[in-house]
Amino acid sequence: MQHRRIALVGFMASGKSTVGKSLANHLQRPFVDLDQYIESSTGKTIPDIFGSLGEAAFRQLERDALTSVVRGDELIVLATGGGVVTQAANRDVLQREWVCIYLRTRPETVRQRLHRDGVVRPLLAVDNPTEAIRSLMAAREAWYNEVADFTVDVDSLEVPAVVRQIIDWL
Ligand code: S3P
Repeated sequence: MQHRRIALVGFMASGKSTVGKSLANHLQRPFVDLDQYIESSTGKTIPDIFGSLGEAAFRQLERDALTSVVRGDELIVLATGGGVVTQAANRDVLQREWVCIYLRTRPETVRQRLHRDGVVRPLLAVDNPTEAIRSLMAAREAWYNEVADFTVDVDSLEVPAVVRQIIDWL
């Protein structure tokens, strides 16, 4: 495990970016956030991409980013977007090339944390976000489990405790 790249997977607002930064810091590895990588390579924000090009175009960019984010044998820590697992090709890459840590959340936790980080999630900018969270999570749960090498239930944990569990497991 020590010599493989680490990807954090899980639903929106599960803390992938915050935990990823802290984990990378502890392990003294470079940190990359896949959504930020997409934003800087396209010069557009995620909501702009969804709004002007649509979700399918975003998924294509996300698929390309997942392979191009890896340069040489750099052992990065990567925070993925919550929907990365929706594409079979991505699940395949994640299983073959990454150690995947699944930050598992209950829908209520996502609801509570949603606005805390100031990130706009186009898929949850709907009339009934509670229902959108519940149905997207139900649809994706099996895929997160499929790629996960290790799972942390993050609902009642602060970031340092999540990072500690991951480091102990590694
Ligand atoms: C998405 C999650 C977002 C971002 C985009 C789509 C999803 O990332 O990639 O809005 O489909 O779950 P976060 O999980 O970092 O919010």
